[in-house]
Amino acid sequence: MVAATIIFATHLHAQQAAPQLGKSPVKDVVNAMTLEEKAKLVVGMGFRFASPVPVKRDSSAARRDTAAAVPAFRLPPIDPADDIPEKVPGAAGRTHAIARLGIPSITVSDGPAGIRISPIRNNDSSKTYYATAFPSGTLLASTWDTVTVKKVGVAFGDEIKEYGADVILGPALNIHRNPLGGRNFEYYSEDPLIAGNITAAIVNGIQSKGVGTSIKHFAANNQETNRNSVNTIVSERALREIYLKGFEIAVKKSQPWTVMSSYNKLNGPYTSENPELITTILRKEWGFKGFVMSDWFGGTDPVGQMNAGNDLLMPGTADQSKKIVDAVNGGKIDVKQLDLNVERILNIILISPEFKKYKYSLKPDLTAHALVSRAAATEGMVLLKNDGSSLPLKSAKKIALFGNTSYDIIAGGTGSGDVNKPYTINLAQGLANAGYTVDAALKTAYEQYIADAKAKRPKVRGFSFAPPPVIPQLINDAATLAQKANDNDAAIITIGRNAGEGADRKIQNDYNLSDSEKMVIKGITDAFHAKGKKVIVVLNIGGVIEVASWRDGVDAVLLAWQPGLEAGNAIADILSGKVNPSGKLATTFAMDYKDVPSAKNFPGKELPPPPGTAAQPPSPMRGRPSEVTYEEGVYVGYRYFNTFHVKPAYEFGYGLSYTTFSYGALKINSSSVNGAFSATASITITNSGKVAGKEVVQLYISAPGKDMDKPAEELRGFAKTKLLLPGQSEPITFHVSADDIASFDTPSTSWVTEAGTYTVKVGASSENIKQTGSFTIAKDIVVEKDNKVIVPQVQIKELRP
Ligand code: BGC
Repeated sequence: MVAATIIFATHLHAQQAAPQLGKSPVKDVVNAMTLEEKAKLVVGMGFRFASPVPVKRDSSAARRDTAAAVPAFRLPPIDPADDIPEKVPGAAGRTHAIARLGIPSITVSDGPAGIRISPIRNNDSSKTYYATAFPSGTLLASTWDTVTVKKVGVAFGDEIKEYGADVILGPALNIHRNPLGGRNFEYYSEDPLIAGNITAAIVNGIQSKGVGTSIKHFAANNQETNRNSVNTIVSERALREIYLKGFEIAVKKSQPWTVMSSYNKLNGPYTSENPELITTILRKEWGFKGFVMSDWFGGTDPVGQMNAGNDLLMPGTADQSKKIVDAVNGGKIDVKQLDLNVERILNIILISPEFKKYKYSLKPDLTAHALVSRAAATEGMVLLKNDGSSLPLKSAKKIALFGNTSYDIIAGGTGSGDVNKPYTINLAQGLANAGYTVDAALKTAYEQYIADAKAKRPKVRGFSFAPPPVIPQLINDAATLAQKANDNDAAIITIGRNAGEGADRKIQNDYNLSDSEKMVIKGITDAFHAKGKKVIVVLNIGGVIEVASWRDGVDAVLLAWQPGLEAGNAIADILSGKVNPSGKLATTFAMDYKDVPSAKNFPGKELPPPPGTAAQPPSPMRGRPSEVTYEEGVYVGYRYFNTFHVKPAYEFGYGLSYTTFSYGALKINSSSVNGAFSATASITITNSGKVAGKEVVQLYISAPGKDMDKPAEELRGFAKTKLLLPGQSEPITFHVSADDIASFDTPSTSWVTEAGTYTVKVGASSENIKQTGSFTIAKDIVVEKDNKVIVPQVQIKELRP
């Protein structure tokens, strides 16, 4: 009896002695962890690529979940100890719980356009778990409106929280270096100021709900071809000014809970294994406080990843934990380093809903969020062409609706960025909801044609990232078109494009319209113009396409992007004039693919096998060893087109409205106090037209270019007016400090604002400058001295003006 009491008391003491997360300081919890526990915490679990989920409608939406197995790439087996029920079925992964220390498991879920989880659980469709598909990244950036984007973030954050996840794997903000980038739809812009500020807005919105984000993919991950092996070779200046700047802005303005390192190598090592990127730049220079996780199966060396400060390896394998334990025992990882990795993860777990035992409802307000999605979608659609005020549709009530994607609209791209949404409103439904009559016979013909084509598609066997095969356009003969032109008031043609992770887009039949698409546009235009009726093209695309060769034939072009689940309603809002378009391009539309500065070296080249060895087949996970050199340097997007005087089809910042705006006089005040330079540029915008509208006002600055070559101008500020009634005005003031206009000086590894006269240009696009002014900086200002890191290991022949 006595002995039993003693044993019991000792056991109790041991239990009481173990510090508990939240009750004891984090450092004490770390100290109490065994090496094995630490190595478990820094390696994730719970990725069930293969768990089958019934497909409800849109097969592309659920493809990633329905897959039975990866054809060639095999997932490592799940550790039996980790084979426990998922907290959030369909989420991308979670961390290990350590119950002894009160450490719960947190759940991370894709992706940037909405929470990506399984909509049906245990084959029981009486309850569903659909999520709102918000508009794609390219659309959100085209709003140029951080207020709207933050609202999307708040609604999105609510769904993350109410579905029981802790961290969303997004937003994604890699630069649109090349229009063929397969994930450009998820990304925002060719310009880092837009990318960084839109990211900060959505992160602040999401995190205001008490859940976290993972801004990705850090960094210089601008293509999908060989994405797990490609070495991105880029100069220090282009890296800092173009590819890192957006991340820097986002980190400083929104402190995301986590950052996701990318798949690629960067000037040598994998990003996830590079302390210069993850520790020196991200943490020391920018002050990032959260933890860094790898992309799924990214990198190859868990030891290097830990040492680099890539704290969490996702989705995690038992083998990685073992290697980490061995490395600590063998002196390859200092236990202090591992403690730091662990501590950073614990600090985030501490603020997570899971730790706080938040009672999630599983019932987010999808109806309210659909309205947020629809409103945001209308804010980011860009009116590219509107001859003779063809839009909004005034008297036109009977619509001949052409193009497969009018009936089978693309709400968002494929891959991890796809959302299992409850429905998608197509354009036929959207127009009908808005009171238009959609030609019934055409509708039936298209619906039948699309259903037949889908039925004939080969079944997707195994896991695939690829978008579903394109259905060729339905061709109507001339007699039918003449009849349709007779029976209807106007024609609308939708051109759709889809893409997703794992592959870049192609030039033929994707970037360029197919011959049959051009034929369809021409046939419809001939028939409708013969009857004096308008033809409107709606672009339902995730990335840039060629427009110059066919746009002259049609009356109006609306760039609707991939607008999320309310797609058709949002497009109808713009077409009808219920909402006046106010989106502008955050990415340039070139005249021809060849004009794109990276066209010459995208997506790089495969490397020959080492001497004396035979070429190997591509690895299912890693593709082939390859490299891509960013020879265009900082001259990406409009920085190239404007500096090198290459005329684009539609320039950066471009977008039409149903009203007009006048720009008042530009007032510039500048001052230099104790060497700290600052300036303001103020202007009043007036709605000079006949309907209410919003204007995106852009501030570009041309630097003197004394010692450094400079782009002709760079975006240094932007603002969107409120809804201005006809005749109404709004004053806008931009603030500029020396660091906003500095460039990265490679020899001195510092950001320098050169002395000289700066031209301030305020305009409606990068080419449509309305007012100019100037200020002068008397002496060079060294704004910040940085570390000499991520230096390219080869000479880059960089483009210079
Ligand atoms: C993608 C990430 C995603 C992750 C988890 C990866 O393939 O690159 O963006 O978050 O999978 O699904």
